[in-house]
Amino acid sequence: MVGQRAFSAFSAALNDFEISGKEAVMEAIEAERLTRRFGDFTAVREVSFTVREGELFAFLGPNGAGKTTTINMLCTLLRPTSGTARVGGRDIVREPHEVRRRIGLVFQDPSLDDRLTAWQNLQFHARLYDVPHRIFEERARRLLELVELTDHAHQEVRTFSGGMKRRLELARGLLHQPKVLFLDEPTLGLDPQTRRHIWEYILRLRDTEGTTVFFTTHYMDEAERADRIAIIDHGRIIALDTPDHLKAMIGGDVIRMRTSDDVRAANRVREALGLEPQLTEDGVHIEASQGDQLIPRLLGVLQNGLEPPLIVHSISLRRPSLEDVFIKLTGRAIREEEASPLERMRLGHRLWSRR
Ligand SMILES: Nc1ncnc2c1ncn2[C@@H]1O[C@H](COP(=O)(O)OP(=O)(O)O)[C@@H](O)[C@H]1O
Ligand SMILES: [Mg+2]
Repeated sequence: MVGQRAFSAFSAALNDFEISGKEAVMEAIEAERLTRRFGDFTAVREVSFTVREGELFAFLGPNGAGKTTTINMLCTLLRPTSGTARVGGRDIVREPHEVRRRIGLVFQDPSLDDRLTAWQNLQFHARLYDVPHRIFEERARRLLELVELTDHAHQEVRTFSGGMKRRLELARGLLHQPKVLFLDEPTLGLDPQTRRHIWEYILRLRDTEGTTVFFTTHYMDEAERADRIAIIDHGRIIALDTPDHLKAMIGGDVIRMRTSDDVRAANRVREALGLEPQLTEDGVHIEASQGDQLIPRLLGVLQNGLEPPLIVHSISLRRPSLEDVFIKLTGRAIREEEASPLERMRLGHRLWSRR
């Protein structure tokens, strides 16, 4: 009998799962080999990942890595060349309208109507999403309060600061109570203090609304706030884990030094101490389990017995950061990539051909 009862409980559980079926999704986003080409250039290459409901998930990568292209595909603004994804349980290729109803989006570039007030911008959005009037008023009030814009509700947006505009965009993105909120570089171009504020709001919104948040960034400190981070470079995910696990990829401390000849210094450290230093534009990086004890030995091998002698300009020790993880994976720092030589060349060409 016990067996039968257990069986009925089991099948009841199965039924529950079936009944709640399509709406009760376990994963907020499931991307499967998502790929996008522009001509013969592949901007996003076979990207697969899942984001759990209620998760704060970061896409971290340098400029041009394919972050916006990925977000645009997930939001159905751009069709994948191949592969697909489910967002809120719906397929982005086969059910784009269903996906759109379930998501909110804050674009990389500002997208408010400057000549309207904050309230009117929200009203306009509510109409697009068929939010009933009475519900709208209550929600708009609550969201404006959350992002501390209540006193500016009836002010034209063109009088707002960059930070105020961003806050309003956040409120707008949540007005129709999306299951998943997409934020493309939510604090790009804002000063550090405003960036910190915006993050307080994003975390508060996530906590009070229980919304899944997918955001892109090329700021390390911003990615640190995420539950999990996918590091993307040249259109591929090169690592995906919690911030702590990613940093644990680096064994111990990171020593960084600048010398009169970094190539020679790296060779000397490799030969004399059997370590694996990494050469970057930022100097020589060395991972060490007990960095403080290594520094005197480093100075010893670099300053003695070399002809011509090496000069050590600076040496620093720190706990590993996401920056170190990115350097370990790619051999480059993210900020060096702000504009790659190729991009600068392309840009130069574009400006030139426009004249
Ligand atoms: N519409 C397009 N046509 C051609 N190339 C594009 C287009 N959109 C993006 N790209 C290229 O795809 C790459 C990824 O761009 P993007 O997704 O905007 O990167 P990110 O948001 O990470 O900075 C870049 O090299 C960019 O120049
Ligand atoms: Mg982008």
